[in-house]
This record gives sequence, structure tokens and C-alpha cells, in this order.
Amino acid sequence: MRLWGTPEGSALDPAFERLNASLPFDRRLYPQDIRGSIAWARALARAGLLTPEECHAIVAGLEAVKAELDAEAFIFQPTDEDIHTAIERRLRERIGPIAGKLHTGRSRNDQVATDLRLFLMETWPRLDQGLRELEEALAAQAEAHLDLLMPGYTHLQRAQPIRYAHWCLAHAWAFERDRARLRDAYPRLATLPLGSSALSGTPFPVDREALARELGFLSISPNSLDAVSDRDFVAEFLFIAAMIGIHLSRLAEDLILFASAEFGFVALDPAYTTGSSLMPQKRNPDALELARAKAGRLVGHLMGFLLVLKGLPSGYNKDLQEDKEPVFDAVDTLEALLTVLPGLVRTMRPRPERMRSALEEAMLATELADYLVRKGVPFREAHRAVSGLVEESLRGGTPLSALPLEIMRRYHPAFDADVYAALDPEAAVERRAIPGGTARAAVEAQIQALRARLKA
Ligand code: ARG
Repeated sequence: MRLWGTPEGSALDPAFERLNASLPFDRRLYPQDIRGSIAWARALARAGLLTPEECHAIVAGLEAVKAELDAEAFIFQPTDEDIHTAIERRLRERIGPIAGKLHTGRSRNDQVATDLRLFLMETWPRLDQGLRELEEALAAQAEAHLDLLMPGYTHLQRAQPIRYAHWCLAHAWAFERDRARLRDAYPRLATLPLGSSALSGTPFPVDREALARELGFLSISPNSLDAVSDRDFVAEFLFIAAMIGIHLSRLAEDLILFASAEFGFVALDPAYTTGSSLMPQKRNPDALELARAKAGRLVGHLMGFLLVLKGLPSGYNKDLQEDKEPVFDAVDTLEALLTVLPGLVRTMRPRPERMRSALEEAMLATELADYLVRKGVPFREAHRAVSGLVEESLRGGTPLSALPLEIMRRYHPAFDADVYAALDPEAAVERRAIPGGTARAAVEAQIQALRARLKA
């Protein structure tokens, strides 16, 4: 028997019944649904709508139903439309008609919004922890290889030397922003809709503030109609998830390139690569390729759900039932990635000799221009002179440092014997001691700043 009546003798079309049901996916919300119902029963009792005995019977009944669900001993019925109706149906079977008092002043509309918010509130610390572990792995790489230099790229062309630690931290800061986004969104997520009922508010004097405190919410929704319509928290979560996915995909792509024979900058631990069934020499970076790919489905969930919300009339609409599958899949996808990537990053080994041999001298051309600038030459003029010099060096196959001073002077008279000292990658990196730069001290300061945030 359904919890809402159907006209006598009329049955639902079975195919429609399957389409309409959310039970196959929302059964996952049972712990939140039962927590919410227990708190609601207590709030009803405090408002004088349940006697202490009735409240006790309902709470004990809900706990027994939860035990059945925990033990996977709960038998779902074909008429269970969703997890909310299934639990209430079972409660009635266990404690009798008194179960019918639980839904007093409540609707599935405020109930389901409460459940999904609770689910995400519990997810938040796990995502934060996963991001934190990944940042820690990147910081550990940075600390362990502080003196290692590598080419920094723009347009995927060798541009200027940087510290490997600087590259590691560049990714860590992106994940740190994702953690900040989680923190920022939390108060909006932890806003309690319960007490809004179907759309206009519960007509009984339920203490919503007490209810919020009991369930761990930070505040109560200020408008019952908004409370049952609002899925901004879902869209915000899906955006944060998509952004994390994009950051993971960019880290993954860097590492896929760096682990290739062409770059050879890092060696991945074999625990995170697979062999080829055909070519015995290959180690494939599958973990990273999957991280790169899964950004696609995370962005897809955000786009798909925004389109569900677009143009919806106010109040609850069944369209909103479509909020759960993207949320669950995004949570599962992120948890899968965030339990693998920290280990992959922690165990990868940089290959100093490969990085060093990729630091070609042409990458120090900017140093020559900056050298002239220090001698008072306007940067544009210096840039022009050095461009000619680099061209000559490339044409003749003579490295910059092997060009005699007379030749250099042909391009600009300000060149002097001390110019050769500028052609050192170590010196180039150390000149960037500005906050945020790639000099050793600046990178150490970054690590400290990041560690402080990770501790906070
Ligand atoms: N299964 C529904 C959902 O997920 C629960 C809310 C149903 N509300 C309603 N008025 N039919 O959104």
C-alpha cells in the first residue's frame, strides 16, 4: 500500500512506476533519513504533538528499522517509491498506526532536502581530508627535492628554469583553493529546510532552531517556499567537484607527460601503472589517465543539473528528484580519485639527470635581457639585442655561453665580461627571490605558508 492514496481500483502503469521511483538510488540516504526522522519525532514531542510514550515508540521503531537496513535485512516492497516511504511503511509494520504520527507537519519535500544536505555535510570532511592528503604529498615532494631544477613551460615550450618544488606547490595551491571553496560553501549547505513542510511552513509550533542544533545544522532556512525549491547547495557542490576534477586532470596531464620517455622527468611507482598486454617494455599511466578523464563526467554532472534547475517554477517539482544521482556519482568519483592520487604523488621519483639535461641554455635568454636591464638598458631594447644573439647562437650551433664577448658586443655594447655568470640556471632561479618566486628562500616560505594552512 502506498503512503498516498490512488483512486479506487486504479493502479500505476508499471513502467511509469519504475520511472517514478527513486528508491534504486536514494536508499543510500537511509542513515540521514532516519536521523532526520528521529529528530523530527523529538521536535513533535517537545511541541506537544506526541506523548513521551509515542515519541519513544517511534524513535525505538526507527532505530530498529535502521538496524534492519544496516544488516541488509530490510525487505523492500515493489510499492516503495523512495527511501522515505519505504522507511515509514516499515515503521508502521513494526509499531502500528502510531507510526502515522511521524509525518505530522512534515512533507517529503522538506524531508528530502534535509536528507541530501545531511549527506553532503557528512561528505565535506572526507573531501577536505582527501585534498589535504594530496597537498601533503605534493609538499613532501617539494621538501625532499628543494634543490632540483627543471624547465618551466609556457605553451608547452621550455621557457625558464624553475625548482621542481615550485611545480609541485603550484598544483598544491590549486587544491588549497578547493578546500577554501568547501569551507566557504559549508554555511549555505548547513541550512536546515525541515519545518518548511510542503511549501508554506509547518502549522505546528516546532522549534526549528533546536532541530537545527540537534542535527548539526548551522542555521534554519528563512523562507519555506525557497527551502523546498532550493538546490543551490547541489549546484555548488557539483561546481566544487568539477573544479577539483579539473585540477586533478591538469596535475594528471603534467605527470603523464613527465612520465613519458620524451620528458622522463619522473618515474611513477609501478603500483600505479599497468603493463601492456602486447608491448612488454611499456608502463601505462592508467591512474593518471583516469584522473584526467573523470573531470569530464564531473563537469557533465554540473552542466546536467544546472539544466534541470533552469526555469523550474518555484516550489518542489519532481524534476528535483534528479539531484541525487549526480551528487552520489560525483562523491564516489572524487573519493576514488582522492584515495589513489596522494599515494601516486608520494611514491613518484623525480629524475634529476633528465631534468638537468632538459635545461638548455636558450632558456636563459631572458637572463641576458635582464642583465642588460641592470646596466640601464630599456627592456625592449635589451630584448631586441638578445633575440639577435639567440638567433646567432642557434644558427651557428654555438651555445650562448660559448659566444665570445666581441660577438655579444655586436648586439649590444653594454655586454661585459661578467655576462657569463648570468648564464647559470641556478643563479637565474635564485634571482626570483620575490614572494611567490622560485628562489630557494621563496619556495621555503611557500612550503611554510601551505603547511600552516594544512594545520589550521
Ligand atoms: N523521491 C522524491 C525526491 O527525491 C522525494 C520527494 C517527493 N515529493 C513529492 N512531493 N512527490 O525528490
